[in-house]
Amino acid sequence: MALDDLYRELILDHYSHPRNRGEIPEPDIKVEGANPLCGDELSIYVKLTGTTISDVRFVGRGCSISQASASMMTEQIKGKTLEEARALSGRFKAMMHGEAVPEDELGDLMALQGVRKFPVRVKCATLSWVAVEQGMEEFEAGKGKVAAKATTERE
Ligand code: FES
Repeated sequence: MALDDLYRELILDHYSHPRNRGEIPEPDIKVEGANPLCGDELSIYVKLTGTTISDVRFVGRGCSISQASASMMTEQIKGKTLEEARALSGRFKAMMHGEAVPEDELGDLMALQGVRKFPVRVKCATLSWVAVEQGMEEFEAGKGKVAAKATTERE
């Protein structure tokens, strides 16, 4: 199977069977993300144990790219510290903006690199990441429970 087909299947699989979908009661971080270009929105819930992300879930509506990326995001950051998750988010966004990033640092997220050919869709792929980054930043700034909002304009 060609790599492009494999990546397409991976995106479709995350879209049709999203991982970690749902809400978390009493999250440490709740953030609502929106893409003003299309009106799509999602909410992300993060539970922390110390500074480690012990659980992360999302709900929302949007195109296949945004939903698949959110699903992959939850899988990738669960178990990471806030600092590690922010570093990964930076690498993912760099990759989506055309920078070369080692493949082994991104895993399944490499499947989204094809989206770079369609600049308007890059914000679909980064929606959940800019949102969770905003929530993590606000949490770290205030060191308390956070209800944040973010849009892809933050990118
Ligand atoms: Fe709205 Fe992709 S078209 S997030």
